Amino acid sequence: MKTLTRRRFGTTLAGTAIAAFTSASLPRIALAQLATASLQRFPSNFLWGCATAAYQIEGAVNEDGRKPSVWDTFSHTPGKTFQGETGDVADDSYHLYKEDIQLLKNLGVTVYRFSISWPRIFPDGTGPANEKGLAYYQRVVDELLKNNITPYITLFHWDLPQALPGGWQSRDTSKAFADYAGYVSRQLSDRVSHFFTINEFTCFTDKSYKTGKFAPGMKLPDAQVNQIRHNAVLAHGMAVQAIRANAKSGTQIGLAENATVCVPVIEDSEQIEAARRATREENAPFLTVVMEGKYTDGYIQREGANAPKVEAGDLKIISSPLDFVGLNVYTPEYVRADSSTTGYVIETRQSSYPRMASDWLYIGPEVIYWAVRNVGDIWKPRALYITENGCSADDVITAAGRIEDTDRVMYLRNHLTHLHRAASEGYPIKGYFLWSLLDNYEWADGYSKRFGIHYVDFKTQKRTPKLSAEWYREVISRNAVE
Ligand code: FCB
Repeated sequence: MKTLTRRRFGTTLAGTAIAAFTSASLPRIALAQLATASLQRFPSNFLWGCATAAYQIEGAVNEDGRKPSVWDTFSHTPGKTFQGETGDVADDSYHLYKEDIQLLKNLGVTVYRFSISWPRIFPDGTGPANEKGLAYYQRVVDELLKNNITPYITLFHWDLPQALPGGWQSRDTSKAFADYAGYVSRQLSDRVSHFFTINEFTCFTDKSYKTGKFAPGMKLPDAQVNQIRHNAVLAHGMAVQAIRANAKSGTQIGLAENATVCVPVIEDSEQIEAARRATREENAPFLTVVMEGKYTDGYIQREGANAPKVEAGDLKIISSPLDFVGLNVYTPEYVRADSSTTGYVIETRQSSYPRMASDWLYIGPEVIYWAVRNVGDIWKPRALYITENGCSADDVITAAGRIEDTDRVMYLRNHLTHLHRAASEGYPIKGYFLWSLLDNYEWADGYSKRFGIHYVDFKTQKRTPKLSAEWYREVISRNAVE
């Protein structure tokens, strides 16, 4: 944000630190000062939280009137997920939610992002609502509030009701989603003030209907995939309007998007400009059209005859004003300016590029700074949240029963350092939701990839805080990263 003056939230006691190092014997007071010298403080009202999603933690797939989602069908289809693993039981959070809320409380978080399972509320996608399904989320919300934790609700985290004809291929699904969003927001509006419409467009459009890696596992031609993408952003926009119409006034609405994050290879004005241009183009079917109400010329030209068919009024609905933008931040794309028509090129990663346990999770902690800066500079949202950030690690339990996930601590610490830079430069970053509270069902990777800061023994459902949980609690209590 060019116009903003650089504000400092931390006190840099560099002078004190140097004096301490050069002193022969360190008085206790100097050591104490040294301990706080390198703390990078976040704004005083910064929100610290954790994130989860319904199908990944709840289990209880046949209880209280829930009917299958596309993920139930997909995970039960041989060969689709790691060792055929399903979310049938997952973390059993449907029954253990009180225990999980105590984990949140022990961390000291003040916000929790979780998702509602659409097929619990409308088991057939449309039609009569299932009161027992809603009652579960009312219990969760009440328990959170009792513990002074503010609920942030995601309305769609990929568990589409199986019964909806054609799934996201049908425009009727967009309307059904808006009806569901309106209903839930009306029912919970007395206690919940923050809603995310949709989580990560690409994961239930391209990954689900183009590469077939995610439910429902289809491989359709580009023209159809582009129409599915359009139905998805339309669903988001219709849901924003439905929530505004149904929830109490002042309700805050946004989305949680894993936007492609373009990191300039060198921090100079030419490369920064290239990264900005790349951000608009690379996110053209999703965040760009949501924020601008227009598909970029580049997207329309690239797709040619396969471009989505847009009905009158769609773009206005899609770009309904938002109160905030949530960004799920994981992997960077390094961008370099060049003389091509786009003006940029995305660098290919070498085989030695470091990554975490998931094969897609490349490490580049500056990704979180550029996510905030690019989106902040281009679209100037009123508020931004990091709605997911975290990593998988090959956790092991020591003989003493501990999980010393130093690699996860390294990952988180570095990302928060770069997030602090964004906050200190004045970007409107309001909070951070760590993915994830606990190990859970990692979609097609089943239980083979652990993202939690609490270890879960999936046989006994025992939860154990990892070293990263102790570390995060410390970050929260100091409101600072060291
Ligand atoms: C994100 C998803 C989330 C989880 C993390 C690791 O793409 O939104 O459900 O799987 O990745």
